[in-house]
Amino acid sequence: MERVMRDGGAIAPEYPLCFDERFSGRVIATEENGQVLSACATLVRDFVCGGRSLRVGLIGSVCTAPEARGRGLASAILLRAEEKLASEGCVLAMLWADDARFYEERGWRPMGAEVDFALEPAHEGRLAGTAGIRAAAPDDRGAIHRLYTLQRERVERSAAETSALLEAPGMEILVLQRERDLVAYSCLGRGKDFAHTVHEWSGSDRDVLALVREHMHRARLRGESGPTFVITPPTALGLHDRLRGIGANWSEGVLAMGKLLAPEGAAALLAELAGPQASISVDSDSAQGAPTVTLSGPRGALELSPEDLLGLLVPPRGRRHALDETARATGLDLSALPLPLFAWGLDSI
Ligand SMILES: CC(C)(COP(=O)(O)OP(=O)(O)OC[C@H]1O[C@@H](n2cnc3c(N)ncnc32)[C@H](O)[C@@H]1OP(=O)(O)O)[C@@H](O)C(=O)NCCC(=O)NCCS
Repeated sequence: MERVMRDGGAIAPEYPLCFDERFSGRVIATEENGQVLSACATLVRDFVCGGRSLRVGLIGSVCTAPEARGRGLASAILLRAEEKLASEGCVLAMLWADDARFYEERGWRPMGAEVDFALEPAHEGRLAGTAGIRAAAPDDRGAIHRLYTLQRERVERSAAETSALLEAPGMEILVLQRERDLVAYSCLGRGKDFAHTVHEWSGSDRDVLALVREHMHRARLRGESGPTFVITPPTALGLHDRLRGIGANWSEGVLAMGKLLAPEGAAALLAELAGPQASISVDSDSAQGAPTVTLSGPRGALELSPEDLLGLLVPPRGRRHALDETARATGLDLSALPLPLFAWGLDSI
């Protein structure tokens, strides 16, 4: 992995949950003559999402040694990772792809939503500052973890996991302290990922924006002249209003690429969210190979492929088109969808 993805440099400090034995992530590898030729990392995470828990398998650092490419090794590793995560109870798998086409050809689809803002240096003066902001110190980690757990959308992360993640290289972590308490924090950058990007934060809207202002101020002092990006969950409506109010550019992005691993579990979740009028049946031996789910409501029934199911539960960019079509065809109320699934920057692998 280091040879392919970091020119021989270290990768483990960036992803402690995958590569530090204290934590639950695993590496899957294919070897020939004692040489690792292809590998990826996996991590099982329980997402807290709309008040429920959803088990998701993360896959990262998929790579094949240059001399062994084009032999199907990464395709096989990906299948092994999917099977392993399914056997560990994951309803779906997620990954952040450099080469989306490779994954699309293997059944992966863009899924979920985030709202991304780009703040130009001129926006700094339009954000309100506040006293009490400083760089995080090692003994702030417990308080930062508590602030993380206040987020409605997040993953179940232990204090030890947060602490290890905060040690990742190349990250600027700021905290806002009032009296004795930390009331907000924010993280910019992470190893080779999230350059100039605030990717994880918690606190009141006003306090988080004061932290963003300080990140921008520090970037200016470093001589950087480009924009600062802020990644937010679609549910952070108050923060969105404030950022639009100062004229920041924004766009709706996809959260990740995803693949359904357990159609039965996903179908049960869809039935629950579609209300008492919904009934659902799963045909595991359908002619197409993949199980087919039939969703029925007062107006009619629809056959759904695993991809359709993923697109209803966590549609790309949160777009409701497929949900509205399904609601029309079945007569079901699908207003409880999509699921507000969101991963913060330190949760990605
Ligand atoms: C992307 C990467 C992981 C692919 O690894 P790989 O082992 O060459 O992948 P595969 O051999 O499974 O597939 C590559 C091609 O070989 C072909 N292939 C040849 N024999 C094959 C076989 N027996 N089975 C499947 N595919 C085969 C495939 O058609 C495929 O082409 P396609 O992408 O047009 O479908 C590798 O190029 C890499 O490490 N890149 C750099 C790191 C990177 O970008 N990783 C992704 C980060 S998320």
